[in-house]
Amino acid sequence: MNYSQITLKELKVPESIPFPKRTDWHIGMIGFGGIAIGAHAPAYQNVGWNICAVADPNSEARRIAQEKYGIQKTYSDFHELINDDAIEVIDLLTQPTIREEVVKTSGRAGKPIITEKPFARSVEECERMIKIADDAGIKLAVHQNYRWMKMNYTAHHIIKKGLIGDPFFASIEIFGTQDVDLAGHEFYSSSEDFLTIQWNNHLADLLRYWTGKDADRVFARTGRMKGQNFKGDNLLCSIADFGDGLTGHILHSELLRSHLRGTQCRVDGSKGSLKFDFHNNLVIQSEILGKESFRLNTKEADFTSSFAGSMGDFLISIEQDKEPSVSGRRNLATIKTVSAEHESSMKGGKWINCKG
Ligand SMILES: NC(=O)c1ccc[n+]([C@@H]2O[C@H](COP(=O)([O-])OP(=O)(O)OC[C@H]3O[C@@H](n4cnc5c(N)ncnc54)[C@H](O)[C@@H]3O)[C@@H](O)[C@H]2O)c1
Repeated sequence: MNYSQITLKELKVPESIPFPKRTDWHIGMIGFGGIAIGAHAPAYQNVGWNICAVADPNSEARRIAQEKYGIQKTYSDFHELINDDAIEVIDLLTQPTIREEVVKTSGRAGKPIITEKPFARSVEECERMIKIADDAGIKLAVHQNYRWMKMNYTAHHIIKKGLIGDPFFASIEIFGTQDVDLAGHEFYSSSEDFLTIQWNNHLADLLRYWTGKDADRVFARTGRMKGQNFKGDNLLCSIADFGDGLTGHILHSELLRSHLRGTQCRVDGSKGSLKFDFHNNLVIQSEILGKESFRLNTKEADFTSSFAGSMGDFLISIEQDKEPSVSGRRNLATIKTVSAEHESSMKGGKWINCKG
């Protein structure tokens, strides 16, 4: 197919993601493992933010914080970091094992907190944390950073502008190799809900982000490969019924024994379609733009790491005293959806309601 080029400017959608005014927020990170080292710390430092302290019981994690990222203040106990007067914002980057305890401690100290996904592994724990934050009067948010990936962010804004009409189908297909890559990671490889709750919250959240709707009910089946490494199933196929003529679909495998990884997303609407991936590719065809098909030219776009996107949104919410885009309260529908998907898959495939 022949594509014409189109730019973000021509589509009249944002060419960059918003950032807070202050760059000197004193951020304290709790948990300095794989994702903090590989993504959060470099993303924040690239945009000039100040990681003031790190708390991690693992001495090797503290050594890396000091030697690789120049973060001089380190603690083995997160309570000490939260109670350090110099720290203004708490960034919780551990596995979802100590979320509630950390939110309670932040609440007592009156400090805003953002947590890595998943917000928690049960709806009840999420609801308790929302109440703790409300009672303490602190902001609570979740790093659904996939919303700030360049193509995901752009797709959201294209759809919001009505450029493909009313969406009736949104789909994500991902093929990856984490059953091999993370086989030695004790927490992930022994979890029953690795793909359904811990991973799929990104994808279920994207369907909400693109369509602006929450699923009414979901149907999910999971599968395995003979001899796979993880305890939990590493293949997921789910359908989300949003009611009122909108269907979502997720197909996700982390079982590949090849390098043929990939992602493909699409949203079809009453006036056109978008096809895109998690990297730099997006095509659109829409009666609103004429008969041509367009490939997005992102050369001039000024996007940074999606991890600075979710943190930036949180810092802006503090500066402007408004609700974060992905506050704990707003993230609840994502957790309800993935919990229903997990339940559906455990029952071998059955429609499960997500609301209520
Ligand atoms: N947003 C994304 O794209 C993305 C990608 C990967 C992981 N994650 C999420 O990030 C979180 C962390 O994942 P990871 O892969 O970095 O995990 P990890 O296991 O590599 O690291 C967790 C770190 O937390 C530390 N820790 C444990 N207990 C602690 C405590 N009481 N106080 C302070 N630190 C403590 C550990 O010592 C370790 O260094 C998980 O919730 C995961 O789902 C998100």
